[in-house]
Amino acid sequence: MEKIRVADNNGLKLRGTVKISGAKNAVLPAIAASLLTEDSVRLDNVPLVKDVHTMLTLMKGLGAAYALDGNSLSIAMPSIVSDEASYELVRAMRASILVLGPLLARYGKATVALPGGCAIGSRPIDLHIHGLQKMGAAISLEHGYIKAEAARLHGAEVEFEKKTVTGTENLVMAAALAEGQTILRNCACEPEVTSLCELLVKMGARVESDGPDVLRIQGVRELGGATHRIIPDRIEAGTFLVAGALTQGDILVTGINPAHLETIVEKLKIAGAGIEVDQDRMRVRGSADIRPQDITTSPYPGFPTDMQAQFMVLMTQAQGTSIITETIFDRRFSHVNELMRLGASIEVSGDKAVVRGRTPLSGAEVMATDLRASASLILAGLIAGGQTVINGVEHIDRGYENIEAKLRSLGAKIERISG
Ligand code: EPU
Repeated sequence: MEKIRVADNNGLKLRGTVKISGAKNAVLPAIAASLLTEDSVRLDNVPLVKDVHTMLTLMKGLGAAYALDGNSLSIAMPSIVSDEASYELVRAMRASILVLGPLLARYGKATVALPGGCAIGSRPIDLHIHGLQKMGAAISLEHGYIKAEAARLHGAEVEFEKKTVTGTENLVMAAALAEGQTILRNCACEPEVTSLCELLVKMGARVESDGPDVLRIQGVRELGGATHRIIPDRIEAGTFLVAGALTQGDILVTGINPAHLETIVEKLKIAGAGIEVDQDRMRVRGSADIRPQDITTSPYPGFPTDMQAQFMVLMTQAQGTSIITETIFDRRFSHVNELMRLGASIEVSGDKAVVRGRTPLSGAEVMATDLRASASLILAGLIAGGQTVINGVEHIDRGYENIEAKLRSLGAKIERISG
């Protein structure tokens, strides 16, 4: 089993320039969208992370042919070989559910394993299913699989009870090939959703926004190929910005879209970090005086749940008490016990974590349980006295491209070890 070892960085302040990769959560729906056409879709700025490889394995099983050339991917699905996303793949990556809408829309059937439990909460998919049913799909649950069928989906008005990112993405993709008009209300407005809509429009779909969280889609008979650049990963960018603030460093984060980072930047500034923005780059300078603050996660443009664990580490170093409220997922505090093993003072009660700063951290062996939890443990390791060894490295590889190499280029002493 591989582990990540963060050596005693001895008060090292991270310095230098780091280039941000394409967004994991934008490339996964973009790959699923290629199911909607028999033509080839080309995606640039593809991050080479494990979830992308899992998605490509799934696509290959369905009949897709693809070529990866550096960070460019060409993928085509001339005809279907299988309509099934297996339990093995869905369990490895919940975002596999993104093939449900496109398969159903183009081929009239889909069989996708139910995701089941998850390290960060219960994460049901009832809203995806309910929306597709409104569009005419017959859906049954058999032997742990969702079986969906529809000769041709038809347009419908769907109001999401709760904002859901992949739920919105699944329904937009399904509606793109449905007969007639679909109106989706209370849609997730994450940049990754907007970017998917832009790709679909390039493919010939008729998708327009009709208010801040309403999408109007006029279904078409067929879609064609397109070329699309994956947007920068705002969560990877946010993670490096926190690393700069936390180590009192001076980091230039490049290849980003600052508009996607506004809430994160606002919170970093409250914490005392200096931020300068220049087109597609941002410089963060950390201060010795980190200030506490209360943070509540919420759908975009609110504070992202995917940055909650990283900010919690920053708040362990603040002069005072912060309250972090997690409103998106019901069990996304698995990093807390691990951070406490490193010396943090955190108390969880329901959806709130009370973080009492400032506590020095001391290195230990810890276990990562999900992607963002593992990022937070690496951050904690950077400021801990002594060595921190992080188990469960497979989580970090799901969504961060070369995180150790990028951190090393900023001066961090971090390496991957086996054993
Ligand atoms: N929800 C339902 N029913 C549904 C769908 C969602 O109740 O049918 C609930 C969820 O349980 C949760 C809330 O709605 O309480 C929002 O979940 P959402 O559906 O938006 O999450 P997701 O689409 O499964 C995506 C990202 C996650 C990110 C969340 C929230 C992808 C591939 N994944 O998940 O990313 O945390 O949105 O922003 O886009 C990560 O990258 O580490 C990650 C977990």
